[in-house]
Amino acid sequence: MHFFGYKGKNFHAEGVPFEKIIAKVGTPVYVYSLKTLKRHYKAYDKAFAKAPHLICYSIKANSNISVLKAFADEGSGFDIVSGGELFRALKAGANPKKIVFSGVGKRADEIEFALKKNILMFNVESPEELLAINAIAGRLKKKASFAIRVNPNVDPKTHPYISTGLKKNKFGIETAGALKEYINAKNNLKNVIPMGIDCHIGSQITQIEPFMDALAKTKDLLKTLRGEGLDIKYIDMGGGLGITYDSEAPPLPSKYGEAVLEATKGLGVTLIFEPGRSIVGNAGVLATKVIYTKKGSEKNFVIVDAAMNDLARPSLYGSYHAIKAVKATSREITADVVGPICESGDFLAKDRIIPAVESGDFLAIMSAGAYGFSMSSNYNTRPRAAEVMVDGKDFFLIRDRETLEGLVRGERLMKGKKRI
Ligand code: LLP
Repeated sequence: MHFFGYKGKNFHAEGVPFEKIIAKVGTPVYVYSLKTLKRHYKAYDKAFAKAPHLICYSIKANSNISVLKAFADEGSGFDIVSGGELFRALKAGANPKKIVFSGVGKRADEIEFALKKNILMFNVESPEELLAINAIAGRLKKKASFAIRVNPNVDPKTHPYISTGLKKNKFGIETAGALKEYINAKNNLKNVIPMGIDCHIGSQITQIEPFMDALAKTKDLLKTLRGEGLDIKYIDMGGGLGITYDSEAPPLPSKYGEAVLEATKGLGVTLIFEPGRSIVGNAGVLATKVIYTKKGSEKNFVIVDAAMNDLARPSLYGSYHAIKAVKATSREITADVVGPICESGDFLAKDRIIPAVESGDFLAIMSAGAYGFSMSSNYNTRPRAAEVMVDGKDFFLIRDRETLEGLVRGERLMKGKKRI
């Protein structure tokens, strides 16, 4: 459930009309609802309240430091995949002891940064990475706790670009190989401590079964590892719970919680979850202005000032985002909603029935809180959008719109003496 909706004809975020935000900040603008963010976080946390657990919000979904701060204030931990995300988390006041570090390509400097900050655990994705962590920890005279990200070969039944737990995917280590690595670590690697088992099978998953299939395999491995004398304290189930963009009906966190709690009863582990989308996805909307409308012989086009550089998901995955008018109207048209970028793939919606808008009107692109701004770019030298957080009747600019000067900062014209 989210706190976006109409009051009369005017679309609001909590108590604030979009028109008011747009008048102050312009478009395109990402608008987040603090109440929705907190509600979603709490729903997740409550779902697992009966067992020792840690929610590590997955920063990649939406990494604005005000968003992170909202979760840190609730006691959330964080799932990071880069030194940059660690930097953001710390800026937002995260407790390093609640940070897990995932990702297939952690660089030495990133591993060192994380070790110096004493994060909870590395989610290791390859034997070479484990050796690198062991060596760097040794050099720093530290012990690094780790989980191996196990690739369980489970089909999450989602878009192929965002399924990660199949043999053909680059992620994790297959179970047999993982077992070998744990035992090797125990016997031979003095600076790493086997602490958990990690598994993340994909994103926008709308059924419980794939999670439970993966969990069954994790439990088997847990048993084997304990049999080998390893003291495994954590099971990290990753993220991946889907949301409703259109007509999907994913399980609520409470249902997911019930199933997981039942399956992990008596295991004596702390459960870790890394939700991203299910917490922030429906807590954000991208507001955009209609620049022109035009009638082709086959189609109507609504040309807006947000584009694939602002919201890549429709172009990249063919994703559906619902579209509403900021000022409600009952008339409808069928149109492609497209951005100004010079690619036919630059669309936000195709052949969609939308409110009949004209140039100068505003549209709200729904469910844009996850993988929206965080995947945006400057393609076509377009400054990235502003971000606004709404809190009740107040709203705050939490990221300035980029400026043209800002876009070329760091670039230089070649001059004789600057040769390197
Ligand atoms: N943990 C790990 C290790 C991950 O790789 C991810 C997402 C998550 C947690 C969070 O997953 P979530 O709860 O958000 O599903 N850009 C794509 C989604 C890519 C997901 C990448 N990994 C999209 O816009 O649909």
